[in-house]
Amino acid sequence: MSNIHASNHPLIAHKISILRNKNIKPKQVRELMHEIGQLLAYEATADLPVKSAEPQQSPLSTYPVVQLAHRIGLVPILRSGLSFVNAVQELLPTARVLHLGIFREKLSLQPVEYYNKLPSEPNVDQVIVLEPMIATGGTATAAVSILKDWGITSTIKFITAVASRQGLDNLHKKHPDVEVFVGVIDEILDSNGYIVPGLGDAGDRLHDTPSA
Ligand code: URA
Repeated sequence: MSNIHASNHPLIAHKISILRNKNIKPKQVRELMHEIGQLLAYEATADLPVKSAEPQQSPLSTYPVVQLAHRIGLVPILRSGLSFVNAVQELLPTARVLHLGIFREKLSLQPVEYYNKLPSEPNVDQVIVLEPMIATGGTATAAVSILKDWGITSTIKFITAVASRQGLDNLHKKHPDVEVFVGVIDEILDSNGYIVPGLGDAGDRLHDTPSA
């Protein structure tokens, strides 16, 4: 799966190892997610197209100006995707944030869309989906379908801290063009749709809510 980019960055591996630990506090979970999100975003933006603009003057000479060519949209999948928003906006301060709420129905594990803040016409050229975990791949697949139906034609990218191999396979089968920048891939997906060892419920750990 050439579009799945598993990070081999030591900082990401180190931080995910701490994040997995069930004894850390929500504040530390949020801080680690922020840092991991920023490192993954650095990897995911390495090939963003650029354009030349009017040369400017440095203290010593004129210099050629390079700017990002695309209007970027960040698509956090509620709730846990919110943990990546500030991290990525620090790198892309003009990026628009387009919230999508999709939850997994408890028994069927099927994705259910409950919130969609996409404007009627696309106002971005490229999107990065912020989804800290890809478990079954159902939510990720649904998000890509929504974005393609909306009119996104450029490559859709995901940044994801932890994914299951099966979830990535499922997403890739439906949308082979999507690129996923993932911190670590775990082999086990349990019968409740949880990644093992995984992180547990990312939303609950980030927001300090009891598991439902
Ligand atoms: N969502 C989570 O938060 N954790 C999992 O393990 C799977 C889906």
